[in-house]
Amino acid sequence: HAGSDFVVVANRLPVDLERLPDGTTRWKRSPGGLVTALEPILRANNGAWVGWAGVADAESGVIVEDGLTLHSVRLSTEDIADYYEGFSNATLWPLYHDVIVRPEYRREWWNSYVEINRRFAEETAKAAAEGATVWIQDYQLQLVPKMLRMLRPDLTIGFFLHIPFPPIELFMQLPWRTEIVEGLLGADLIGFHLPGGAQNFLYLARRLAGAQTSRGNIGIRSKLGVVQVGFRSVRVGAFPISIESGRLDQQSRSKAIRDRAKALRKELGNPKKILLGVDRLDYTKGIDVRLEAVHELLAEGRMDPKDTVMVQLATPSRERVDSYVHMRGEIERTVSRINGEYAEVGRPVVHYIHRPVPRDELIAFFVAADVMLVTPLRDGMNLVAKEYIACRSDLGGALVLSEFTGAAAELRQSFQCNPHDLEDVKDKIQAAIEVPREDGRKRMRALRRQVLTHDVDRWARSFLETLANTGAAGRALI
Ligand code: G6P
Repeated sequence: HAGSDFVVVANRLPVDLERLPDGTTRWKRSPGGLVTALEPILRANNGAWVGWAGVADAESGVIVEDGLTLHSVRLSTEDIADYYEGFSNATLWPLYHDVIVRPEYRREWWNSYVEINRRFAEETAKAAAEGATVWIQDYQLQLVPKMLRMLRPDLTIGFFLHIPFPPIELFMQLPWRTEIVEGLLGADLIGFHLPGGAQNFLYLARRLAGAQTSRGNIGIRSKLGVVQVGFRSVRVGAFPISIESGRLDQQSRSKAIRDRAKALRKELGNPKKILLGVDRLDYTKGIDVRLEAVHELLAEGRMDPKDTVMVQLATPSRERVDSYVHMRGEIERTVSRINGEYAEVGRPVVHYIHRPVPRDELIAFFVAADVMLVTPLRDGMNLVAKEYIACRSDLGGALVLSEFTGAAAELRQSFQCNPHDLEDVKDKIQAAIEVPREDGRKRMRALRRQVLTHDVDRWARSFLETLANTGAAGRALI
């Protein structure tokens, strides 16, 4: 096989195809920590990336963009409706996030998921050199490991799940639960953010796929479990993802960003406290929870609308999926209600932006915010929490963080709250607003030590080193 020695497979390519009004197209780099972390490894290994260009009917084929080899997998409008909006984001996404909204189980969506996973597996089989290492990403592609192994037994295959792996009782609802578990078991190494997710998967592998587990218990200390599938061993472990902390730390120190942060505070009317939320507009993020908490703090006179503002930056996401349409309506109504009750002309209490915000502007917001609100009902990791910390070299600011995020396991010195307990959320927001300077600095120092020493590069290397040591036939990456 001619091809690449290292292939990354993800639903999305690291670039999006943009259709311009005049009918022409251009590639636009989508910023993401994953690409940046993998880029040096891709370049050193003649690497390739297999994924979807983000629009319907983009030509399939190989493109070289900025020195990276990209294999575009074509999805039709119907594929997008059934595989992406349907099975991925209206079945798996809510199921894996604790059934916050009710997952829909539809046979035609499942059929499409199988078909598109096969398309990705076939494209990957074409892209990979003999003995190559392939790294498959996330819940949209859980059948690819097994499909790819059938096509190409010579490959070393890793899989990483970027969202939570659900409790056993919830996973068992899925009519295609056995197929999913068997699909994943085609990999040599399966990675999750947290030991709990790995533990749930090990149990299900035994129960549904008849796999034998030795060292099946992932204790607090031991990192890896091993599943025996016929003659093959599959390793299962926890690898918490992170961000490019060093780079973000540097960027946030620049004069331009500092000045912009000051200007932002002025534009917001020089409030004593700026509260900030930054999320994809998704029902898992608990945007409604933090708005309700702020609303009640105002109503109880525990927060003064004259000296506090909240900014909610919400990136549009999955806008054709019903539950997202519904939640957007709810959130926009709540923002209006709060402003209706507490704003003065020219002085809103909640500033709500439903557009993508440029990276530099986002960093300036992190630098300006006194309290960062990260309150998901469930989140695999939550990188926004880590980004905020990386931006606070001044040791200012305070983080309110939901216990139900992967990040909570690492960011112990944050103000942690249970997002289902509104009184707790309110108390923690108030505590973060009122934290004495020295206590706040001490917390931020400890949080920064964690985030700066555990970056996304370390995450990628740790996964790939473990994969290289699984005893699969492939050669090591440089
Ligand atoms: C989460 C998922 C990713 C996904 C991203 C954006 O982080 O884990 O796989 O790419 O959301 O969602 P989208 O549906 O726009 O790709």
